[in-house]
Amino acid sequence: KYNLNTNLLGKEVIYCDTIGSTNDYAKEIAKNAKEGTIIISEEQTKGRGRMGRYWHSIKGDGIWMSIILKPNIYPHEAPFITQIAGASIVSGLKKLGVNSLIKWPNDIIINNKKVSGILTELGAEIDRINYIVVGMGMNVKTIDFPENVKELATSIKKEGHNLKRIDILKSIIEEFEHLYLKYIQDKDKSECIKICRENSAVIGKNIYILKGEEKRKAKCVDITEEGNLVIINNNIKEELISGEVSIRGD
Ligand code: BTN
Repeated sequence: KYNLNTNLLGKEVIYCDTIGSTNDYAKEIAKNAKEGTIIISEEQTKGRGRMGRYWHSIKGDGIWMSIILKPNIYPHEAPFITQIAGASIVSGLKKLGVNSLIKWPNDIIINNKKVSGILTELGAEIDRINYIVVGMGMNVKTIDFPENVKELATSIKKEGHNLKRIDILKSIIEEFEHLYLKYIQDKDKSECIKICRENSAVIGKNIYILKGEEKRKAKCVDITEEGNLVIINNNIKEELISGEVSIRGD
């Protein structure tokens, strides 16, 4: 029905008119779901962002979806899946003529405003992964945002692009599958990392790093082959792993 040019992702698509959160539903069914199952909803009533934040998901305004993955990797390798998601969003959009950047690790921005966010959640035991749910939210047609995010958020339409949600979805999913299979089958992260580096909103910038209550300043200098962010603070180099920290502009 979606005419996806894929072998793994979206062979099973669960389409809902309304749902609490596609991530919550994906986690509920993950155990018995086939790898690559996609849950997508026109609206979410309890859309979630990172750090327990609310994610605005109005009916028909965007792409609210979750992908269930079952990679044979260690739990500590899971953050790389977020890099794949970011790279596939940026590169999927680029194929449709939309330029965007990744604000490491999980925000996609256009003109310094957030257009899309990724929420990766893990079902894991100490040394093995049972499933990974990759949630992606993208504001496509949204014009009015809630007061508290008005200054920070944008949509594909607000940035001047009239694209169909289905075309964006297809483009992202196909790119995701390509990068995911490279990683899983060939253990090759290079293409994904290249996209993350070339389309980074933070490399070369001064940022604030937020870790729990702690807030400190540093300069971002690179993204490693593993997808970690390299920062320099007082001449000391450090690597940050996605999932552990959050960053803010200078
Ligand atoms: C963030 O930027 O904090 C992450 C936002 C992730 C939103 C998506 S929308 C589909 C999926 N279901 C959810 O409840 N959240 C993710």
